[in-house]
Amino acid sequence: VGAEKINTDIVTLTRFLTEEQSRHKEATGDFTLLCHALQFSFKSIAYYIRRATLINLIKFELTGLAGSSNTTGDEQKKLDVIGNDLFISAMKSSGRVRVLVSEEEEEAIVFDEHPQARYAVVCDPIDGSSNLDAGVSVGTIFGVFQLPEGAKGTKEDLLRPGTDLVASGFTMYGASTQLVITMRGGTVNGFTMDNALGEFILTHPDMKMPKKRAIYSVNEGNSMWWEEPVKDWCNGLKYPEGEGAKPYSARYIGSMVADAYRTLLYGGIFAYPADKKSKKGKLRILYECAPMAMVFENAGGQAVNSKMARMIEVVPEHIHDRSGIFMGSYDEVQKVIDVHKKHG
Ligand code: AHG
Ligand code: MN
Ligand code: MN
Ligand code: MN
Repeated sequence: VGAEKINTDIVTLTRFLTEEQSRHKEATGDFTLLCHALQFSFKSIAYYIRRATLINLIKFELTGLAGSSNTTGDEQKKLDVIGNDLFISAMKSSGRVRVLVSEEEEEAIVFDEHPQARYAVVCDPIDGSSNLDAGVSVGTIFGVFQLPEGAKGTKEDLLRPGTDLVASGFTMYGASTQLVITMRGGTVNGFTMDNALGEFILTHPDMKMPKKRAIYSVNEGNSMWWEEPVKDWCNGLKYPEGEGAKPYSARYIGSMVADAYRTLLYGGIFAYPADKKSKKGKLRILYECAPMAMVFENAGGQAVNSKMARMIEVVPEHIHDRSGIFMGSYDEVQKVIDVHKKHG
């Protein structure tokens, strides 16, 4: 094996962040430090998820239900609680976070021990947790807002549109651990965890999603509650008109992070529409929809809510507010928008 075949100039997440920071002269390094804390939370959550599968087999039972529900009414898994605790402790100890919103916490957590901290973080510590016991991929979704100096970390600091996010992204704990991160107005970059090095390696620089792809990802079990335009859109994919037209393929994992990651790479559309039963939709604006919308837009795709408004511009009224969402390849989301226009 020739030495020339080995890449000795590896871009780790640490290097990537350092290079990003040096491109911004005004940067104080606080954001970089916050990202290092985020990175540690991803590594530790990934580690516990993998360990849980093993520990469960030898009867310590880290998987399974915690026996409680969170404020949004979801059944909590033990790993939801562990993931939440790992995330909170990483954010708190970074000293750079003033306030934190987590899916698993009813109220925003204000870190008064760090009154000068200038960032607010929103997170879904474990997305797709109903899949945990089956060993299916789950992940962590996060978003970062910058706060004005002297901010007290009130709820009003957090009830902001995704366009105010300075960074967002998600991880997927799958066959390997993947991290997708983007900054406001920037590119989308994908990293893969190298377990031997203990580092995230830049494996997918400047991710741009395919403009279209005939794959749809939606829980069709809800279709009896869907509004007419949504039914119409979905039927159009399954029963296309015109000679030789082929129907779309269906792919639905039930972990948004995994469905989103596939959609980013292969193209297609992921949807969780609002419907007659869940009038506001299921997914949460602040820590599920907005961060994903920023990733998809920065990768060249689109993301809209059930009213066909740009998802990233939606302002939540409460920190746990929900929304319908359609996100994916530019042309695939445009199809949804066009069908809704036709219905008026
Ligand atoms: P969470 O595990 O954080 O509560 O989120 C679950 C979400 C999301 O991951 C997924 O896309 C969706 O719920 C699946 O919902 P259905 O089971 O209703 O299809
Ligand atoms: Mn949940
Ligand atoms: Mn979730
Ligand atoms: Mn969750």
